[in-house]
Amino acid sequence: MKRIFSGVQPTGNLHLGNYLGAIRNWVRLQDEFEDCLFCVVDLHAITVWQEPKDLVANTREVAAAMIAAGIDPERNVIFNQSQVSAHAELAWIFNCVARLGWLDRMTQFKEKAGKDKERASVGLYAYPNLMAADILAYKGTHVPVGEDQKQHLELVRDIAQKFNHDYGQEFFPQVEPLIFGTATRVMSLKDGSSKMSKSDSADNSRINMTDNIDGIARKIKKAKTDPEPLPSEAQGLDGRPEAANLVGIYAALADTDVEAVLGEFGGQGFGAFKPALADLAVAKLSPVQDEMRRLMDDAEHVDTVLHAGAEKANDLATMILQEVQDLVGFLRP
Ligand code: AMP
Ligand code: TRP
Repeated sequence: MKRIFSGVQPTGNLHLGNYLGAIRNWVRLQDEFEDCLFCVVDLHAITVWQEPKDLVANTREVAAAMIAAGIDPERNVIFNQSQVSAHAELAWIFNCVARLGWLDRMTQFKEKAGKDKERASVGLYAYPNLMAADILAYKGTHVPVGEDQKQHLELVRDIAQKFNHDYGQEFFPQVEPLIFGTATRVMSLKDGSSKMSKSDSADNSRINMTDNIDGIARKIKKAKTDPEPLPSEAQGLDGRPEAANLVGIYAALADTDVEAVLGEFGGQGFGAFKPALADLAVAKLSPVQDEMRRLMDDAEHVDTVLHAGAEKANDLATMILQEVQDLVGFLRP
């Protein structure tokens, strides 16, 4: 059986990288896979401080983005993680399966904890174990994510393998990462060597899904570039990270590849390319953004979708969790 699972953190500033690298791919996968779960991972969000009222609003915002992008809540399960207790319960078991040495290698923890890792939350460190629980609570088999999640998914495979070995049964599947499309790693508009991120303090570094038309155009106009015209072949983008990023974004939005974009714009400067990119971004994003705004004004509807999703998810996860409890040796009534 094939089952898709993926998640986004409700930490605010949902951006173009989340859309092109993750959510838009999920919309496509729902036609290929019958069984898809898409989760707003609020337990992951609180591994760094979240203002409670912002967390509520951001949870609805991510759910609204999923629905607005075209994920059908009737055919798929859309829910927020904290409403299905199996995630936290299985995560605890995985805390006892995963080894410190494995978590020590996680680059995302090092990046997020920064220099002062003594002050990072224990949750931030154990984050990948919870991610393993998210997927394996449903025996998920395929996980569509951006490039930055590759290392975490390797850890999920290690946890499944060790659990199966320790408890003597091929119980959990080996998950397959699905990292595809031309925008698996969208970079900051201000620095082509760092990834576009929700937590960047510079708002100009990213296009937020809630930015208006003028905001999108302004950020693209101000994006960092170099003085050279665009090359005619992809090789010519080597060593030009900002140019490569903007061309990559154009290709992803236009649903084409980098070569085709350079075929059209090769030899032209950014004075011509940036307005074309801004027009394309506005044309592709505004319909999604309009629908997102409409949904965010209808909190009741979004909450109903999340509630129904949590019920379906809970039914699926409870069955699997009970089998896990039996394997581990937890006495059940
Ligand atoms: P997060 O913002 O960490 O909750 O990420 C949610 C999803 O978006 C994950 O699948 C990430 O891999 C993906 N993602 C986040 N940032 C980017 C980016 N800059 N480019 C492409 N995908 C991204
Ligand atoms: N760690 C992922 C991110 O930051 C979010 C996430 C949590 C996730 N649980 C998941 C993604 C399970 C895929 C599957 O992007």
